[in-house]
Amino acid sequence: MGLFADIYGENTLQKSRIAVISDHLLGTLVDAVNRVDTEVKLIGLTSTQEKEGVTTVTHLIANALCTSTYFRSLVVDAGLHNPAMHRVENIPEAPGLSDVILSKELRWKEAIKSKKEPVCYVLPAGKSVESLVDFFMHPRVYDFLKDLRSAFNFVLFDLPPVGTYPEILPFISELDAVLFVVRAHYTRVRAAQVAVDRLKRGGVLILGGILNRKRYYIPETLYKMF
Ligand SMILES: Nc1ncnc2c1ncn2[C@@H]1O[C@H](COP(=O)(O)OP(=O)(O)OP(=O)(O)O)[C@@H](O)[C@H]1O
Ligand SMILES: [Mg+2]
Repeated sequence: MGLFADIYGENTLQKSRIAVISDHLLGTLVDAVNRVDTEVKLIGLTSTQEKEGVTTVTHLIANALCTSTYFRSLVVDAGLHNPAMHRVENIPEAPGLSDVILSKELRWKEAIKSKKEPVCYVLPAGKSVESLVDFFMHPRVYDFLKDLRSAFNFVLFDLPPVGTYPEILPFISELDAVLFVVRAHYTRVRAAQVAVDRLKRGGVLILGGILNRKRYYIPETLYKMF
């Protein structure tokens, strides 16, 4: 797995740098997708353990996609272990993904929220679910993925960390590719390797790793001088 991008950050992301980071992430993503022989539309973001920055990175890429007029995109909050995309996007948590899958009546088109019509949308997590494994194995999930594939150029899935929730692997295997987020100075290399090996054994295409919350070792002002 190659390094896809790294993102500096201590406690909060600097607002002034968000657009630059987002554009860089999207550029690298499109580049990586173009280098792959297979079609890559459904992309999951996951990690080894919780709080590595999966929701943050998903949101950054989604923002860049919204500025593009080429791509029709959707972000799905599949982080049902701890839904957070609705907070970042400032939208209601439900109805959302779980309601679309578990209720026969609600269609996904009615549950998605527009970020920028008609190019980018968000599907929040929906009502909480009792069991992640039951949810992700639900037969309606697969028809839903098929629908999304024909409706969008890119669908980003904010996923639970596969290291902590290996039961989501069968679902991840249905996606086209994964970006693997690693929080610097937080997750042990060995633990990340185990999670990545698990994905590879599941036949998952890993587009690359994103090293998040890297620290500056020389004062930030010096970085800015060059
Ligand atoms: N590059 C960064 N710089 C500064 N703060 C960051 C950065 N990335 C993430 N954070 C902060 O770290 C916290 C955890 O990030 P986030 O919610 O994106 O992680 P997550 O992997 O989705 O967590 P969870 O396991 O709860 O789903 C948040 O408060 C977020 O604002
Ligand atoms: Mg999250």
